[in-house]
Amino acid sequence: MKKEDKKKILFVCLGNICRSPSAEGIMLDLLRKKGLSNQFIIDSAGTNGYHNGELPDSRMRKHAAMRGFDLVHRSRQVKTEDFYDFDLVIGMDDRNISNLRDLSPSPEEDKKIYRMVDFLVNKEADYIPDPYYGGADGFELVMDLLEDACEGLILQLTNQK
Ligand code: 4NP
Repeated sequence: MKKEDKKKILFVCLGNICRSPSAEGIMLDLLRKKGLSNQFIIDSAGTNGYHNGELPDSRMRKHAAMRGFDLVHRSRQVKTEDFYDFDLVIGMDDRNISNLRDLSPSPEEDKKIYRMVDFLVNKEADYIPDPYYGGADGFELVMDLLEDACEGLILQLTNQK
């Protein structure tokens, strides 16, 4: 499939070392298992850029690995051009969404901004909570919510065709 025909999805959180690289890793794995990898381009980024170039947080990698997901993304900051390069820009919490709205170059690109929780199918949450300053439970909750939302996202995008 040609690049322009693929669905391009960018996941965004604050530091791009916990939630959004996990969403990226889960999504890539689910797409591979469903034989859909060729139809999508998946990436992630953070609003603050403090961890540029870093692998995901070691605690996040551990909790992802416990479920079979290998997180290899290197942190980068989200930029205005991302709104032209991606079809969906998906924020993890309301602060991410607010920052994305500030960064978006036009009302047309504003329409690409979504909340990750809007794709939940079996679970309910108002946002994907930042696990950085908490314990193991927070990382497990992030994985539970992201696995569910990624399944819902794939369902929505493949039903639309
Ligand atoms: P994330 O978690 O946004 O899910 O990657 C965080 C990681 C780092 C920081 C905050 C949140 N930080 O302030 O360094």
